[in-house]
Amino acid sequence: MATSLKGKDVIRIQDFSVEEVNMVMENAARFATMLEKNDRLTNMAGKVLATLFYEPSTRTRLSFETAMLRLGGQVVSVAEAKTSSSAAKGETLFDTGKMIESYSDVAVIRHPIVGSAAELASGSGAPVINGGDGAGQHPTQALLDLYTILIEKGKVKDLTVALAGDLKNGRTVHSLSALLSRFGFRFYFVAPDALKMPAEITENLKKQKVEIVETPDCAKALADSDVVYMTRIQKERFEDPADYERLKGSYELDLKLVKKAKKGLTIMHPLPRVTEIAKDVDSYEGTAYFRQAANGVPVRMALLALVTGLE
Ligand code: CP
Repeated sequence: MATSLKGKDVIRIQDFSVEEVNMVMENAARFATMLEKNDRLTNMAGKVLATLFYEPSTRTRLSFETAMLRLGGQVVSVAEAKTSSSAAKGETLFDTGKMIESYSDVAVIRHPIVGSAAELASGSGAPVINGGDGAGQHPTQALLDLYTILIEKGKVKDLTVALAGDLKNGRTVHSLSALLSRFGFRFYFVAPDALKMPAEITENLKKQKVEIVETPDCAKALADSDVVYMTRIQKERFEDPADYERLKGSYELDLKLVKKAKKGLTIMHPLPRVTEIAKDVDSYEGTAYFRQAANGVPVRMALLALVTGLE
């Protein structure tokens, strides 16, 4: 039976089958080629994307909005939704979802509370895409990360990836570990004790026989990894600012460390970076984080087209 993503909410990466993920990858590649050729796209003419961002964003919001415009569709947007939407008057996300289905064909939400995208989706008949819910998930980031690995490495088989930094609060690594595990990746989880990957995630992956080494030692992990995925220490998730001050400098990847890593190391980061990757790493040939961010456009074009039933 042909797979269709029409009408699908994108809330958790686990809700995607491998077949569905492959469909997103294939369509993203197709849209990337069209973008390179400067083809004028009208796939989404007459369709409207609503973006509701209750937390700051540069890449997710701009790449979704760019994706919709590149597809010939239109965008309505609530920036600073926490203060400038009727959330400030106490409106629930369920009721906001009812408005979404009246005004738009698809919506993207970012929100500081885990489960908020699911709550919006429960009220909306139009598909809802999770653009990051607190320390929960960031499924579209995981899809563009996989797409980036495919392009940078030319394969997904037989690869080891080191996820490093704030694995406790970083929603990108929660989604990415679940996605890459489906493709047979081996993992190093590199974090200080206080910021380890939640036990529930690690135990669940181990139950599925995924190979994981947990270590605070970034150099050790890099010596044996094909890809490193650095993450920012998530200041906004800390209850005690003193804890952030103690942990903020846990890792700094610089060229000196890169030179000791496995040959051909690919360096990724969902961005924004703070101090966890030194500027001198930008010139290293395996540095992929700016290309990774650019890949957000074709991947999100594919998602928008697929969930609205267009291709
Ligand atoms: N990677 C990412 O989610 O970036 P933004 O916070 O800028 O959207």
